[in-house]
Amino acid sequence: KTISVIGAPMDLGQGRRGVDMGPSAIRYANLKERIERLGYPVKDLGNIHVPTAETHNIINEKLKYLPEVVNVNTEIYEKVAEVVQQGDFPIVLGGDHSIAIGSIAGVTSKISSSVGVIWFDAHADFNTEDTTPSGNIHGMPLACSVGVGQRDLTSIGGFSPKLQGKNVVIVGARSIDPEERELIKQNGVTCFTMHEIDRMGIGRVMEEAIRIASDGTDGIHLSLDLDSLDPDIAPGVGTPVLGGVTYREGHLAMEMLYQSGKVISCDVVEVNPILDRGNKTALAAVDLICSLLGKSIL
Ligand code: ARG
Ligand code: MN
Ligand code: MN
Ligand code: MN
Repeated sequence: KTISVIGAPMDLGQGRRGVDMGPSAIRYANLKERIERLGYPVKDLGNIHVPTAETHNIINEKLKYLPEVVNVNTEIYEKVAEVVQQGDFPIVLGGDHSIAIGSIAGVTSKISSSVGVIWFDAHADFNTEDTTPSGNIHGMPLACSVGVGQRDLTSIGGFSPKLQGKNVVIVGARSIDPEERELIKQNGVTCFTMHEIDRMGIGRVMEEAIRIASDGTDGIHLSLDLDSLDPDIAPGVGTPVLGGVTYREGHLAMEMLYQSGKVISCDVVEVNPILDRGNKTALAAVDLICSLLGKSIL
């Protein structure tokens, strides 16, 4: 299968500069060569155009840069849909996590039945304009994808919802806002927090996650936020939270996803090289992508 890489240098979904350099940092960590070494042909489709924050004003404090975020995600939707239509596997490089709105729209628009999602993240990204503490749209993409939130965001691609809550699983969460918690429950989304990872082990958590996300679906989309990892191994993220997934837990999760044979697409988001030490976080991201695509130890 051909891997198609799409850069989405989006930083309008949150407040810290530098996450727009995520695609460059991940490419600089030898993404293409390392995937090719696993035996896949790789097409790099370049970057989606993202307007510069300084040239735009915030109109709505509860939905910062809404029109710009909608436009960029519409372009991501179109590109990802094209890739899936061709039968290729898209990897969308963020950018902040708001890009998942467009990428999930693109994937689900081309799959006949439904798609499950595994949302690997320190956060749930299940806020709406009514619950957000920040107004940052990167805290909303998962809600948008199950059809909850502002209409322009939920209707990217002209259809809503993209996902059914019963096939959505959050893994690694440890920072959830009070009203966000209620929305997760109301929408039937499963959440394996760090508590469940500690108690059950990442192996059992991933077995369950894969089962729930594949139940009645045609495949799984992985949305990988690098802040899911512990800040010790992934310091280059805008919203780090202590007590995250270890390096090996992350890899076992990716290896199990590969072995499931269900994953059809992914996002790799929130890498911010300006906040990093060296290019540690992008290197960790490429390591994880390789495990997701079948790199094994032996
Ligand atoms: N829950 C917080 C908010 O909505 C933080 C979201 C962080 N999201 C992320 N993709 N890093 O503002
Ligand atoms: Mn443009
Ligand atoms: Mn996120
Ligand atoms: Mn996060």
